[in-house]
Amino acid sequence: MTLKKPSVVVTRKLPKVVEGRMKELFDVILNINDIPYSPSQLKSVLERCDVLVPTLTDKLDDKLLASSQNTVKLIANFGNGTDHIDIHAAHDSGIIVTNTPDVLTSDTADIAMALIISVPRRLVEGAKMVAKNQFEEWKPTHMLGGRLSGKSLGIVGMGRVGFAVAKRAHSFGINIHYHNRRRLVKDIEDEAGASYWDSLDEMLTNMDIISIHCPYNQDTKHLISESRMKLIKKNAYIINVSRADIIDENALIGMLENGRIAGAGLDVFEHYPSVNRRLKDLKNVILLPHMSSATLESRIEMGEKVIINIKTFIDGHRPPNRVISA
Ligand code: DGY
Repeated sequence: MTLKKPSVVVTRKLPKVVEGRMKELFDVILNINDIPYSPSQLKSVLERCDVLVPTLTDKLDDKLLASSQNTVKLIANFGNGTDHIDIHAAHDSGIIVTNTPDVLTSDTADIAMALIISVPRRLVEGAKMVAKNQFEEWKPTHMLGGRLSGKSLGIVGMGRVGFAVAKRAHSFGINIHYHNRRRLVKDIEDEAGASYWDSLDEMLTNMDIISIHCPYNQDTKHLISESRMKLIKKNAYIINVSRADIIDENALIGMLENGRIAGAGLDVFEHYPSVNRRLKDLKNVILLPHMSSATLESRIEMGEKVIINIKTFIDGHRPPNRVISA
């Protein structure tokens, strides 16, 4: 007897190898042209598939998820962050949500570390100078940046990525500090030489570089508010490869323009996909197009996790990467 394959809708183009495996296993609708689904297209697929595979570009709010017309039973998110999905509404409607943790950690931490080096050492500014034929000669006062070794890095959110950044930065001779909802056990802290701050405000006041690694939710919206940014040292830098809305971007821009913060490295933008013109005009920032986890390896491993979550669910087991409501 052949069992009917589950109907799976994938909202964005995925690496070929992932799409190929999905075609073998599922009755799958792919998005060959990679044009994002509109809310009405999302509504329509939720009403005819067993499994939806969305990405962070699909907003799945309570209105879409609460519909009694929905047939979807599993939302197997292609990505780690699930702030684009109303998890409570999904659970209230009996829909299971899964994500793809772990496999993005080292790639994301690499880019955070790259920004931690590149912003104080002015790497992009230097590269642009050469590209524009503006490099004339070496001189003692040319392109002076800030030394990393001996500086204090404050990590906001010491989850998987935060800890991976801590270990990298520790090996650069940077002193590691962190603020987290829960303190890590001593052995783990010791691995990265990390000191815990119960008070975020006190940590911010004392850091040379601040790197954001907490998830985005209603508790972390503008966690780094204007008043908190005023606590930060004038010669400090802010790095964000997490979610843009954790920082009040407008306030950050004002402080960067006024020299109240020395620089920033941002992989995410509050009004995505548009990027504030004023940010682009600043010399002391490096702006990246949300690429911190963008390696072929991570995208394939994310796809493998999605497939495992779907397979275990279809086979009647608990998918390994279920997202629990906060
Ligand atoms: C995620 O999966 O949440 C990442 O932000 C994608 O880069």
